[in-house]
Amino acid sequence: MAKKIVVIPGDGIGKEITDAAVTVLKKADEKFGLGLSYEYHDAGGTAYDKFGTPLPEETLAAAKASDGVLFGAVGGDKWDSVEPSLRPEKAILGLRKGLGLYANLRPVKVADALVSYSPLKPELVRGVDLVIVRELIGGIYFGDRCESEQHEGVERAWDLENYSVPEVERIARLAFETAKLRRGKVTSVDKSNVLATSRLWRRTVTKVAESYPDVTLDHLYVDNCAMQLAVKPAQFDVICTGNLFGDILSDEAAVIGGSIGLMPSASIGEATSLFEPIHGSAPDIAGKGIANPIGTILSAAMLLRYSLHEETAARAIEDACDKALADGWRTPDLWQEGFQKADTTAMTQAVVERV
Ligand code: NAD
Ligand code: IPM
Ligand code: MN
Repeated sequence: MAKKIVVIPGDGIGKEITDAAVTVLKKADEKFGLGLSYEYHDAGGTAYDKFGTPLPEETLAAAKASDGVLFGAVGGDKWDSVEPSLRPEKAILGLRKGLGLYANLRPVKVADALVSYSPLKPELVRGVDLVIVRELIGGIYFGDRCESEQHEGVERAWDLENYSVPEVERIARLAFETAKLRRGKVTSVDKSNVLATSRLWRRTVTKVAESYPDVTLDHLYVDNCAMQLAVKPAQFDVICTGNLFGDILSDEAAVIGGSIGLMPSASIGEATSLFEPIHGSAPDIAGKGIANPIGTILSAAMLLRYSLHEETAARAIEDACDKALADGWRTPDLWQEGFQKADTTAMTQAVVERV
């Protein structure tokens, strides 16, 4: 039976980068006989403009019924004044919640060919190979909030952070399982010197660790972790953290590898998983055809690995991306004198030829 991939391009560069990834998937299908089919659905500002909602019910239903979701990005200045509950970002938040995607895996690996592109010194970034395991459907992102209220004569707003023991347990277990298949080290990141949610987080992760005697656990406060990522990023194997800290730390970790445009992610839960680059809709370059498609192409490779168990095809795509970069192809976010200038299409073609 054909494997159905639901493609949700979204806004800004979303269409350009998902087109690129589908082109590469089609090549992999041709080569490895994967039997893929594609169904396109709207989400984000684009869906809001058409249907008055960022996440039409049929998009969520189609995502649930698929074998895997490939997501581009949502958002843009055009929708900044839209009522908060209808903002484009609600589309991705609604998909994560609706599909029960409690874990977001964000691997950061620095290709040898790109060591010199990092804002950090080459000797610090060589060999960096870490994965951020970010809790994705809890914490302050999904707590109660108030956009505006009067309190003691002044206007205020608030967002509530809460985490339950089971929520922390399941993300911690996934982090330890991930570490077991890697270098066996989990760094749990919190702010337990200040926050109650972080103290519960630390207690719970420490308890879960008892079931994983072969994995070492250490704890870092998030502010220190932000610094350690800049001073000694190679020390990390698996970083396990909450929703908000994971969002911020993953953009920081992403640039260690040269460009946020290179970084993929997998959001997984009990059933259908979703794959998306970690960057956003990049309104500043949207429509110019110059976005780096690699993060989305690598997200498609993760879809093949995690959702379809097509390890060989996934590896072929990852190797093709490495080779295209090693052979000197560069989109503008990474271009330097002496390298081949590529737009999104040329970069995609360079990958396709190497699959
Ligand atoms: P962004 O990630 O879209 O862009 C940050 C910077 O990185 C920009 O200079 C952009 O040009 C560059 N960049 C990002 N992706 C790139 C790529 N593939 N190739 C080359 N350069 C790339 O973050 P932002 O500007 O803070 O947010 C823009 C919009 O995207 C906002 O509406 C935000 O809410 C949304 N957003 C969506 C997602 C998502 O859909 N998952 C993720 C992050 C941000
Ligand atoms: C990300 C994005 C999203 C997040 C936004 C668009 C809701 O920044 O995927 O990293 O904060 O999770
Ligand atoms: Mn983010």
